[in-house]
Amino acid sequence: MTDFSQGVAFIEDEYVAIAEAKIPLLDWGFLHSDATYDVAHVWRGKFFRVGEYIDRFQTSMGRLRMSIPYDRDQIQAIMFELVRLSGLRDAYVEIICTRGIPAPGSRDPRSCENRFLAFAVPFVWIANDEKRARGLNLLISKRQRIPPEAVDTRIKNYHWLDMVMALFEAYDEGADTVVLVDAEGNLVEGPGFNVFVRHGDTVITPVRGVLEGVTRQTILEILTREDLQVKQEPLPSATAKAADEAFLTSTAGGIMPVTRINGERVGDGRPGALTTKLNDAYWALHDDPELNIAVEY
Ligand SMILES: Cc1ncc(COP(=O)(O)O)c(C=O)c1O
Repeated sequence: MTDFSQGVAFIEDEYVAIAEAKIPLLDWGFLHSDATYDVAHVWRGKFFRVGEYIDRFQTSMGRLRMSIPYDRDQIQAIMFELVRLSGLRDAYVEIICTRGIPAPGSRDPRSCENRFLAFAVPFVWIANDEKRARGLNLLISKRQRIPPEAVDTRIKNYHWLDMVMALFEAYDEGADTVVLVDAEGNLVEGPGFNVFVRHGDTVITPVRGVLEGVTRQTILEILTREDLQVKQEPLPSATAKAADEAFLTSTAGGIMPVTRINGERVGDGRPGALTTKLNDAYWALHDDPELNIAVEY
């Protein structure tokens, strides 16, 4: 029996152990980062908001002029099968569409057959338990995130050289992670997350030049229950530095408090009360039958 406990991939219509999963070298997904992807998660045996991740994936494919021979229900069925085969109760489930390989001698993307791939591995946390309890030291990089005029950041993409180099910069400075900026110096997003700050009774999150995160959306929905003003607008660096609270949102790790920005304390230097409340509300939604679908193992 193949051991699927470390993860399972779906490639060329087959389910294989994650260590055996390979893609052809000439696929433009690899050679040119010409791909889109999405990541959903399974928590305690249930997929959270899976339909929304598939919707975003299909929208991204459409914007990139990609198509695959699997419809929405088939994609969802593959995602569930990956998790069922793995036996994982808490999983990170990625679906990918690559451009594929052009016809021999051609560099015409229209000649490519787009490729669908997927995999499930154990749940991944951007920040471990200790860091989430203490809060993160976030560096505001001077590096720009690829602008939406170049690559539509609403399409989940593998254009990560900006973010990876910024991460190196953060580690060199002793920070835990990094947020990139736009041409005007406003914060946009970081490697795998959106950013929020609270100033008094106003909460701000950037909307331009970012991926519209499903976790971000969930937090915006939870915030409608609070007596706070929520603004989706540019977030200047000075506003972020003067915030009372700051936090990051991601499928890979939920709500992560930021307690330092560029080494300086945010508020009193401890995870904020709103951040903690939103984190609790976010995980509580994982028991809501309307938002979760159980995997039948
Ligand atoms: C660049 C970027 N921004 C934001 C996010 C957060 O999106 P979500 O909450 O849907 O995971 C991600 C997620 O991986 C991301 O890669």
